[in-house]
Amino acid sequence: MATHRRAAAKTLTLDAARRRVEQLRARIRHHDTLYYVLDRPGISDAEYDALFDELRRLEAVFPDLVTPDSPTQRVAGEPVPSFPEVRHLAPMLSLDSVTDPEEVRRFDERIRQALGRARVTYVVEPKFDGLSLEVVYENGQYVRASTRGDGERGEGVTENVRTIRAVPLRLHADRRRVPRLLAVRGEAIMRVEDFRKLNAQLEREGKPLFANPRNAAAGSIRQLDPRVTTQRPLRITFYDVLRIKGAPAFQSDWAQLVALRKWGLPVSDLSRPCESIDEVFTYHREMESRRDSLDVEIDGIVAKVDDLAARPRLGMTARHPRWALAFKFSPRERETVIEDIAVQVGRTGVLTPVAVLKPVEIGGVTVTRATLHNREEVARKDLRIGDRVRVIRAGDVIPEVIARVPQRGERRKASFEMPKRCPVCGTPVVREGPFDRCPNGLACPAQLKGAIEHFASRDALDIRGLGKETVEKLVSTGLVQSVADLFTLREEDLIELDGFAEVSARNLTDAIEKAKRTELWRFLYALGIPNVGASTARDLADHFGSLAAVMNADEETLMQVEGIGPNVAASIAEFFRHLGNRRILHLCLRRGVQLVEPKRARRAGPLAGKAVVFTGGLASMSRSDAENLIRRLGGRPSGSVSKKTDYAVAGTEPGSKYEKARALGVKILSEEEFLRLAGVR
Ligand code: IVH
Repeated sequence: MATHRRAAAKTLTLDAARRRVEQLRARIRHHDTLYYVLDRPGISDAEYDALFDELRRLEAVFPDLVTPDSPTQRVAGEPVPSFPEVRHLAPMLSLDSVTDPEEVRRFDERIRQALGRARVTYVVEPKFDGLSLEVVYENGQYVRASTRGDGERGEGVTENVRTIRAVPLRLHADRRRVPRLLAVRGEAIMRVEDFRKLNAQLEREGKPLFANPRNAAAGSIRQLDPRVTTQRPLRITFYDVLRIKGAPAFQSDWAQLVALRKWGLPVSDLSRPCESIDEVFTYHREMESRRDSLDVEIDGIVAKVDDLAARPRLGMTARHPRWALAFKFSPRERETVIEDIAVQVGRTGVLTPVAVLKPVEIGGVTVTRATLHNREEVARKDLRIGDRVRVIRAGDVIPEVIARVPQRGERRKASFEMPKRCPVCGTPVVREGPFDRCPNGLACPAQLKGAIEHFASRDALDIRGLGKETVEKLVSTGLVQSVADLFTLREEDLIELDGFAEVSARNLTDAIEKAKRTELWRFLYALGIPNVGASTARDLADHFGSLAAVMNADEETLMQVEGIGPNVAASIAEFFRHLGNRRILHLCLRRGVQLVEPKRARRAGPLAGKAVVFTGGLASMSRSDAENLIRRLGGRPSGSVSKKTDYAVAGTEPGSKYEKARALGVKILSEEEFLRLAGVR
C-alpha cells in the first residue's frame, strides 16, 4: 500500500512537472517573441532568468522531459574543426545594386512592360548590412542554418546560429499549423550599440577589434567555437522564403512576411508595401535621412515585386532576379588627396590638425576639410601632405580622414610635425597626452574668439547677430578683449567696423542688452568652464541656486551634485579659483548682467529627486518640453541609463536605452504612465 502511494506520488509529480515544464517553455517563447520579434519586452531580465532557471532545474530532475526545441537547448556545443558544406534548398541569389535613381526608374519600366501593367506594387525594406543566412525548419523545428557561400552551397553554422536567441528553435503554430518544411533567408546583424560595447570589451581584453557591425556579426557566426558565438549580441531579421512545403501558397511577398512574423521569426518593422515606384523613392529618402538614428547599419533599401506569381515571369539575369533591386544610399566615404595640413586653435586652446582636401562630394555635400583629431591620430594613420586618403562623412558628423590609400611607387612627403608654438599667438605649446595645447588662455586671440562665440551661442546667452565674422572683427580691432567687454559696446563703435550699418549696429547692441538678463544656468554654461556642458550647468544652478554659492563651493561640495564626479568638480573649482576668471565675472555683473535664479524645485511629488531617461519619441510633447517638465517637478532628466536611473520613459520606437533599462531592472514607464505620474493627465 505504502509502495503504491509513493509510486502514485511519483507519477503525479512527473505529470505536474511536465505541465509546468510546458508552461515555462511557452512563457519563455512568448517573451522571446515580445523581445526579439515585436521589440516590446514584457518582463525584466531578472524575471526572465527566473523562468529559465526553473525550467533548467526541472529538466535536470526529469531528464526525460528534455526536448531538442526546449529553450535550454540553446547551449553552445563543442568547438568544431571546420564547417560542413550545406546545399541550400533554393539558390541564394544576390541583388542587382544601383545608386542612380534613373536605373531605378528603368527597373520599374522593364517590370511594367514585361507584366503589361501600369503600376506595380513593391515591398520595400532596409538593406541590412550583415551576414546572409539560410535557416531551415522541419515540422516547425529548427534543423540547420548555413551561410550564403557561393549561393548554391554554404557553410553549415547550425550550432552557432542556435545560440542566437532571436532565432526561434520552434515555430509558433499559426491556426495550429506550421509548414512541413520552411527555408527562410535572413540577415544576421549586430546593433550599433552592441557592436560598440563588444569592441570596448575586446579592447579591455587586449584583443583585436572589429572594423564595423557587419564584420562583427559575420566574424561571430563564422566562429569554430560556438561558445564564443553565444557571448556575442547577435540579432537576425528575416526577409525571404527560399522554400516552403505543406502550407497554403502565398500570393504576395507582404503576406509571406506577415506569416513569418506569426511563426515567431523576426521581420523588420521598417518593411512596407509601396503602391508605385514613386513611393519607393519616398521610402529611400526617408530611410536615408533616418540612417544615422537607426539602431542597425543599413546601406540602402531593397525593393521587391510584391506579386509572387509575377516573379517567375520576370526571370533572372546572370546572377540576379529581375524582380528585386537594391537601391543603395549615396556613399558616405570617398577618396581624395590631402593638399595641406592646417592647425586650428580652439576655445580651450587645443591645437587640432585639419586636413585641407582636394574638394570631393560626399552624400551631396562638398567636403574640403576634415579633422585629423590630434598628433597621435596623425601618427597612427601616418598621414602626410600629398597622400591619397579615404574620407568619411556620416550624417551631421564632421568629416574625418579614416585611412591613407597607399599608391604604387608613390614618393611621399616628410611626416607631419605639430608646431612647437601656437600658430595664432606664438606661445610655446604644452603637450597633454595626445593633445597639444596653447597655454596662453584668453590672451591668445584664437581662444578669446572661441570663448566669445561660445558665450553668445544658443544654449548660452543666445546673442543673435554675434556670429563668427563679427567676433573676428571685434577681437582683431581690440574692441573686445574679454567677454565682459561685450556689455560696453556702443553703436558708434560698431558702425566703425567693416560691414556694419546703423541698423545692424543697433540690432546687435539691442541683442546684447536683452541678453544681460539671463538664467543662472545659461551664464554658467556661457563661461566655458572645462567639462561643464549645458546639462551640468543646469544641475549646478538647480543645486546651488546662486552664482555665489557655485563660485564658493569646494570640490567636495560640488561632488554632492548628482552626476558630478571628481574630474568635473576639479575643473569647476579650478576655474573659479582663477583670479582672471573671477575678475571677468564681476565685470559682467557690474556691467549689468542679471542672473535669474532657479525657483526652488518642488521637493515633494513623485518625480522629485528622480533621474528620468527618455527613449523613443513622445506623442504629446517635444523631448525638451518633457525634460523641462521633469525639472519643474524637481526631477533630473538624463541622457543615458545607469543603475542610478529611476525611470525610463519608452516612447514610440524606443532604442537601445530601452534595452539597457530593462537589463538593469530600471522601472519602465509608457508615455501615458509618465504623464499621469507628472500629474499632467
Ligand atoms: S531580399 C533575391 N532584403 O543584400 C535576394 N536582401 O545582394 C532576395 N540583404 O546578400 C534578398 N537586407 O542577403 C533582401 N531586406 C533585405 C536585405 C537583403 C540585406 C542582403 C542579401 C544579399 C544582399 C544583396
